[in-house]
Amino acid sequence: MSGFAAVDVIRAKRDGGTLSGEQIDWVVDAYTRGVVAEEQMSALAMAIFLNGMSPAEISRWTRAMIESGERLSLDVSRPTVDKHSTGGVGDKITLPLAPLVAACGAAVPQLSGRGLGHTGGTLDKLESIPGWRASLSTAEILRQLDDVGAVVCAATSGLAPADKKLYALRDVTATVESIPLIASSIMSKKIAEGASGLVLDVKFGSGAFMKSLDQARALASTLTSIGADHGVPTTALLTDMNVPLGRAVGNAVEVAESVEVLKGGGPSDVVSLTLALATEMLALAEVSADPAAVLASGEAYEVWCRMIAAQGGDPSAPLPTPSHVHVVSAPSSGVLASLDAYAVGVAAWRLGAGRARKEDPVQAAAGVLCLAKPGDAVSEGQPLLELHTDTPEAVPAALEALAGGFSIAESAPSPGPIVVETIRAGM
Ligand code: URA
Repeated sequence: MSGFAAVDVIRAKRDGGTLSGEQIDWVVDAYTRGVVAEEQMSALAMAIFLNGMSPAEISRWTRAMIESGERLSLDVSRPTVDKHSTGGVGDKITLPLAPLVAACGAAVPQLSGRGLGHTGGTLDKLESIPGWRASLSTAEILRQLDDVGAVVCAATSGLAPADKKLYALRDVTATVESIPLIASSIMSKKIAEGASGLVLDVKFGSGAFMKSLDQARALASTLTSIGADHGVPTTALLTDMNVPLGRAVGNAVEVAESVEVLKGGGPSDVVSLTLALATEMLALAEVSADPAAVLASGEAYEVWCRMIAAQGGDPSAPLPTPSHVHVVSAPSSGVLASLDAYAVGVAAWRLGAGRARKEDPVQAAAGVLCLAKPGDAVSEGQPLLELHTDTPEAVPAALEALAGGFSIAESAPSPGPIVVETIRAGM
């Protein structure tokens, strides 16, 4: 690859110019190899943050990040389709969704991450199951996809290494919240993972990265266009993340709620989002099945048990319980009018469910149970929230996060739908 001077690439973007395909290929590759220094990439990331990128630049940048590492070749007997969520509070949907879509006949390779900040990580949740292991080799991933149809595990280190480096840099240079950088980061990993179709759950609201529907729509259309440019049909659902999803926010508590859904119960918002995402995934995989009927039949639960057991977990083992439970009661009678996702996410995080730094441990039993959801009638003194933790000294900080995080009124409108819009490439 012909060389450029990093300073010229930075200057071009700083001055509002458009980077050529060759400049992008060079700078991403040279950064991955350590030839472009961290401070140079910091300056370039900030220039991109401030001046944006054209659709062609975003697509090329994504390609360069994919090519910085390996691209899995998912040579399995069923059509492959994956789902990615931009992250929310109580977002355990991967847990019931992957086995459900596998029970319907597609293969779901879910290479996931750990939680950072107030949104939880799928691997942290699954690690609350005794014996379950997140790290699999590529051969194990392929075998499990063939045998079980679903695998949720840690991304192998060879996938999009440029993104790994760049994401860590963005985290400490205030350059995370940029649509070109977020979209290329997500799609480079998902495309490198090799699924033939991709469904994105793009969340908006207080508990999401994107606070407004307009921002989420802009991110969703960038994501779906990148998918189309790379030959991976991609659909995005815009979903409401102003209120925690379901009743459980944390690790083991979210596994327990997912198992309820797989056994035919569970909160209606979790069930309806799982079915909406499954419907889109099956459409992309061209598998004709009724996910609601498959969920009701218990077949998805059977796949869940096999998926957990294949990774060393015991699906029937009791989940960890907290040493301390603090109850928050309703201060008055009426209707729960609001329950803020961000406040509950931060409370769960402070109770020990999440981590502040990548290397921090998480508590399997920590989290928040929302005993009432907006629209529910409540009476004074009734338990509204249960705070679970093994470190009771964390309770005051969790209560501080929850201050103003819910309200009770004489009446409140019924909650709106979870899925607000569907975006497909070219729409
Ligand atoms: N998730 C990612 O993978 N990358 C981002 O930049 C933001 C969220």
